Amino acid sequence: MALPRPFLSLLLCLCAASLLSARLADGSDELKVYIVHVKHPDDVAFSDAAQWSDWYSSLLQSAASTLAVASEEDVAASRLVHSYHNVMTGFSAFLTEKEVEAMSKLDWFLQAYPSRAYRLHTTRTPTFLGLRRGKQGVWRSSNMGEGVIIGLLDSGITPGHPSFDDYGMPPPPAKWKGRCDLNASFCNNKLIGARSFVNYDGRKRRSNVTVVDADGHGTHTASTAAGAFVKRANIYGLARGLASGMAPRAHLAIYKVCLESCASDDILAGMDAAVGDGVDVLSISLGGDPVPFFVDAIALGGFNAISKGIFVSCSAGNSGPDHYTVSNDAPWLLTVGASTVDRSFRATVKLGDGQELDGESMYQPSNYKSKLLPLVYPGLITGNSDTALCMNGTLDSVDVRGKIVLCDRGTNMRVEKGQVVKKAGGAGMILVNDALNSYSTNADLHVLPASHLPYSDAAKIKVYINSTSAPTAAIIFKGTALRVPNSPALASFSSRGPSQITPGILKPDILGPGVNVLAAWNTQKFNMISGTSMSCPHLSGISALIKHAHPDWSPAAIKSAILTTARQKDNRQQPIVDEKHVPADLFAVGAGHVDPQRAIDPGLVYDLAPGDYIPYLCGLGIKDESVSAIVRKNVKCSSVKSITEGELNYPSITVTLPAIGSKWISYTRTVTNVGKPMTEYSAAVDVAKGVTARVRPAKLYFKEVNQKQSFTISFRRNGDGFGPAEGRLRWVSKEHVVRSPISIFME
Ligand SMILES: *[C@@H]1O[C@H](CO)[C@@H](O)[C@H](O)[C@H]1NC(C)=O
Ligand SMILES: *[C@@H]1O[C@H](CO)[C@@H](O)[C@H](O)[C@H]1NC(C)=O
Ligand SMILES: *[C@@H]1O[C@H](CO)[C@@H](O)[C@H](O)[C@H]1NC(C)=O
Ligand SMILES: *[C@@H]1O[C@H](CO)[C@@H](O)[C@H](O)[C@H]1NC(C)=O
Repeated sequence: MALPRPFLSLLLCLCAASLLSARLADGSDELKVYIVHVKHPDDVAFSDAAQWSDWYSSLLQSAASTLAVASEEDVAASRLVHSYHNVMTGFSAFLTEKEVEAMSKLDWFLQAYPSRAYRLHTTRTPTFLGLRRGKQGVWRSSNMGEGVIIGLLDSGITPGHPSFDDYGMPPPPAKWKGRCDLNASFCNNKLIGARSFVNYDGRKRRSNVTVVDADGHGTHTASTAAGAFVKRANIYGLARGLASGMAPRAHLAIYKVCLESCASDDILAGMDAAVGDGVDVLSISLGGDPVPFFVDAIALGGFNAISKGIFVSCSAGNSGPDHYTVSNDAPWLLTVGASTVDRSFRATVKLGDGQELDGESMYQPSNYKSKLLPLVYPGLITGNSDTALCMNGTLDSVDVRGKIVLCDRGTNMRVEKGQVVKKAGGAGMILVNDALNSYSTNADLHVLPASHLPYSDAAKIKVYINSTSAPTAAIIFKGTALRVPNSPALASFSSRGPSQITPGILKPDILGPGVNVLAAWNTQKFNMISGTSMSCPHLSGISALIKHAHPDWSPAAIKSAILTTARQKDNRQQPIVDEKHVPADLFAVGAGHVDPQRAIDPGLVYDLAPGDYIPYLCGLGIKDESVSAIVRKNVKCSSVKSITEGELNYPSITVTLPAIGSKWISYTRTVTNVGKPMTEYSAAVDVAKGVTARVRPAKLYFKEVNQKQSFTISFRRNGDGFGPAEGRLRWVSKEHVVRSPISIFME
């Protein structure tokens, strides 16, 4: 092994001597964790993590003359936080802005930025998705994901939970190199790996880090992806049934990177370890505000994970329903939005005039005696908006004792409103949605009898209260209701595109179940929570099924299979609706709702190799050092034939059309036959009024499996129209429909 730079102990001594003189006069510099990208050495192949770490230490030591350290401490030992070598070349360290500035002049330096905070994107789902035991189907053809390793970056794990039992599980495959930092009895053939990366509390090293989940989030997501079968899973008697993850025979490896929040340097460390350990799928139910890929831990780490054949599934974020809110939006990641399932925990409100309105609540005490009680809307009495929201301390001036209290959604937490009502002596709560959340209700674990109703019912109740001198209401608990119409529907919180970072790639990619998802928890056996955090591990598990069935498929091929087979209709055979119960747009649903049964046999795939993203990154206008930092080799965009976002061989299509009468905009795409040999496909393209689209050639014939064929799709405006508009391209054979959504912007 050759070291790329002088590595002399003499140098270290010289540096230490210069430390004192380098002390900066102004004491304004605050030590923060920075992520530092180093030029990837062409001429070395370090054989283990310790050698990389030694090299980074030497770089840090060699930079010591520029570091404003106050004593002759060992710079590397006191400053280095994490060393990376699988998903990036570089390290994280405690540095000041001035030190980074000085370091940026050194020849090994590529880029650096402060570590940022990311947030966690806080059982009937297998059946709803068509996954059933025994019969023909995707669980059969994928053997429930047997042998596939799913790595989760999350808040840890609850060891010993029945969802992580390894009954009947084979040992991990030989390639597994990870370790399990739990008591030996908790590590088994289901839970094969567990490590923690939340090592620092400010500058203090934590002595008591454990992989045990203090939150519940990581336990929930892990069991959703690959939990074992647990009989009679339920929460307070509701949603009772056989619980399991999407890939019940896949292995789980847990990388704890979050406590209350998650830092980018720890996220990168978790990904670095997961890639080195040999996971097949990474499941990441956390995210930050959208930032450019070269400073985004998940985008950066994700690129180097997919480069090693690892599929990366991420939550889209919970910042909906506004547009331009989607995160984890790099084209090499799968970006998962959240939708409802066809199950409700019904709490019906009966008004004194006989109207019945169906709402939801998780808290349904079995001994509750339903009766009509006085109904009060504190907001109407005081005319004060805080009172209408049932904010803490606002109900003191209103007599709510023994009454059912109407509260508006917003500002404070939903469950907290119930606590406020209960404290004031209220007997029950009706929680009504605001216009923003419209039909998107939640089954929460309230502290008193309650029902959460859609916005459309808010007006009905308020009109009724106003119409009578003695309004009354009762709450009637009806337990679990199945086959709820309009399912799946988009959750109001699910983040929407267009992407701020790459608007020319349609994001999110796909929807999965993310509302009232029952899965394992830390304090009780099961809990039901909502978020794109819950939809992401559904797709992680499903990708493990596909990976088992098609071990040679690239991450891009798996993604293409999921996208081109997605469903756009709900259980009434109508277009999937959003929280307002109007058809959801492409920036909400992406390709549609996942259909695992079809995803395992897509017919054709739009494939991409890691190197295909380089011309795309250059096309985004990212500077050379940052492209080099992402792809870990020296890239000069001036010598790369860069492409626009639309030219990436992505399974969905986004096009921006200039004024009427101008030239055609054309994209070439390449599809690979992963179905049967000797199959013919015909193109069918539908686009919004005002746009003409054509596909050449209109037929593709595949003589062989894995054969590739290219086609060109062209668009032109032919009349008036406003963007954004929608369309779809379908390649249709006797057995398959390979569908790409088309998103059209008009200039
Ligand atoms: C592991 O076992 C030790 C000794 O029995 C115990 O003190 C510790 O709490 C256990 N750790 C976990 C994570 O259960
Ligand atoms: C470590 O211990 C301290 C003090 O008991 C506690 O406040 C903190 O939450 C613990 N940290 C972890 C990661 O468990
Ligand atoms: C309401 O405020 C009181 C007093 O500040 C506090 O003790 C209580 O915990 C608060 N309740 C909720 C539900 O936040
Ligand atoms: C209540 O009734 C009064 C008088 O009929 C009307 O002015 C007011 O708008 C009504 N308020 C609501 C919330 O319906």
